[in-house]
Amino acid sequence: MENYVAAPNRYDVLQYERCGRSGVLLPKVSLGMWHNFGAEDDFSRCREIMRYAFDNGITHFDLANNYGPPYGSAELTFGRLMEEDFQPYRDEMFIATKAGYDMWPGPYGNWGSRKYLMASLDQSLQRMQLDYVDLFYSHRYDPETPLEETLQALVDIVRSGKALYVGISRWPLEATRFAFRYLRERDVPCLIYQGRINLLDRAPIDEGVLSLCCQEGVGFISFSPLAQGLLTDRYLNGIPEGSRMSKGRFLRPDMLTPDLLARIRQYAAEAQAEGRTLAEYALSWILRQPGVTSVLVGASSSAQLQRNLTVALAPH
Ligand SMILES: NC(=O)c1ccc[n+]([C@@H]2O[C@H](COP(=O)([O-])OP(=O)(O)OC[C@H]3O[C@@H](n4cnc5c(N)ncnc54)[C@H](OP(=O)(O)O)[C@@H]3O)[C@@H](O)[C@H]2O)c1
Repeated sequence: MENYVAAPNRYDVLQYERCGRSGVLLPKVSLGMWHNFGAEDDFSRCREIMRYAFDNGITHFDLANNYGPPYGSAELTFGRLMEEDFQPYRDEMFIATKAGYDMWPGPYGNWGSRKYLMASLDQSLQRMQLDYVDLFYSHRYDPETPLEETLQALVDIVRSGKALYVGISRWPLEATRFAFRYLRERDVPCLIYQGRINLLDRAPIDEGVLSLCCQEGVGFISFSPLAQGLLTDRYLNGIPEGSRMSKGRFLRPDMLTPDLLARIRQYAAEAQAEGRTLAEYALSWILRQPGVTSVLVGASSSAQLQRNLTVALAPH
């Protein structure tokens, strides 16, 4: 494999958006590695997707300790890509990881304790071959651990230099309000909230999380913006071999009820009337919501990514 040299025109492609009231700009489309980057996935395909992303202006990459499968393996893949291709570009990349779900056995490998978050980030840095991440998240709200403990761990992680910024993901509204205040009072403001907004799930809008982010100057990044592929043409005519639904782990065939398929077909018709693909229509709807910084897409090929980037192209 030849040495990788990033495309010289990579910053002419996408639009970037300020993340809340911070100094950070994020691409309107960011790349997530929940699927397609595990040990079971073809490494050359991972490399192709990652190179395509970076060559086309994607600077923000989203991981978590448990992405794979098996757990940890997406970070290992990413570490190998850093070592072989991206080390010279480290300062051009905004790399996130998270801890919050079950990661290792026993009482210290899950949820929101200081013990878990600190150890998990150290493990993530090793797997990713990094000295620090740009962004570290509490991956989910822990109803049993005092919020102060989880949040102080985030503050101390930033002070230790192992992360430059912190964020929270999937926290409920009142806990989110508390987190924003706690972190701000310690001069480690929450950079970003990660939640799911898409045409099929508007909970962060309906529950007030997105407007709270706007008021507080915190960015918002939407995960699963294509509802894991449902909001593309992937399932309009059955369940294709090799698709996420055909593997059935997180997106199962029984989820595609006749009602849901009818809704998706309705969105596809609206998209077609505007001369757009369903994926473009779905992503641009999210990016139009005030307060949304970026959509965090997944891709099982660089061709998918190419099709989805059109919504974030820079005006020429
Ligand atoms: N914070 C959290 O709790 C949380 C939860 C979930 C995800 N996330 C983050 O969000 C990221 C994205 O999530 P996601 O992968 O569910 O996002 P998504 O963009 O909604 O779905 C991506 C999948 O849709 C299909 N797809 C994408 N573009 C397509 C196209 N143009 N035509 C046909 N099919 C297309 C592909 O599936 P096929 O495999 O079928 O090709 C692809 O893997 C994750 O990687 C992770 O970083 C965070």
